[in-house]
Amino acid sequence: MNAPPLVCPTIRVMMMPRDTNAHGTIFGGVILSYIDQAGAIEARRHTCQKFVTVAMDGVIFKEPVYVGDVLSFHTRLVSTGRTSMKIQVHVDAERFENPHVTIPVTEATLVYVAIDENRRAIPLGPLS
Ligand SMILES: CC(C)(COP(=O)(O)OP(=O)(O)OC[C@H]1O[C@@H](n2cnc3c(N)ncnc32)[C@H](O)[C@@H]1OP(=O)(O)O)[C@@H](O)C(=O)NCCC(=O)NCCS
Repeated sequence: MNAPPLVCPTIRVMMMPRDTNAHGTIFGGVILSYIDQAGAIEARRHTCQKFVTVAMDGVIFKEPVYVGDVLSFHTRLVSTGRTSMKIQVHVDAERFENPHVTIPVTEATLVYVAIDENRRAIPLGPLS
């Protein structure tokens, strides 16, 4: 996957003790939840249609995340299909002790599908 774009992150969040797993590092599911949220915010920038997450592909947890780390979620639309948008999310961590260094910790590619009132896939409208 390419390097993250040098733009403002879609979400920034500090990891808290409530987010930890049994080993004291941050639970991967917490990060996945923020990834889905960041991807949805990116998708919303491009369409006003209702959409749902159909896939989270290529999830890689490259480095552990610790309590006090500040995570930045960078997003970008990579492609569109008939009904779907593919969005990449890159996550960087600033360690609590050293906020001037960012470490790539996680990445994923999400697919969002536009749906109608019956929750069936529908063609994407014009994208912004
Ligand atoms: C999203 C949903 C409506 C798609 O229904 P479907 O019958 O698979 O529809 P289609 O086969 O026409 O696929 C729709 C699009 O999704 C894409 N898609 C479907 N499954 C996919 C997968 N596993 N990975 C990547 N893309 C996928 C298709 O390629 C298609 O894209 P395109 O139209 O741009 O080419 C249906 O799967 C659904 O409701 N899923 C639950 C979504 C949800 O509730 N998410 C929240 C988390 S619980």
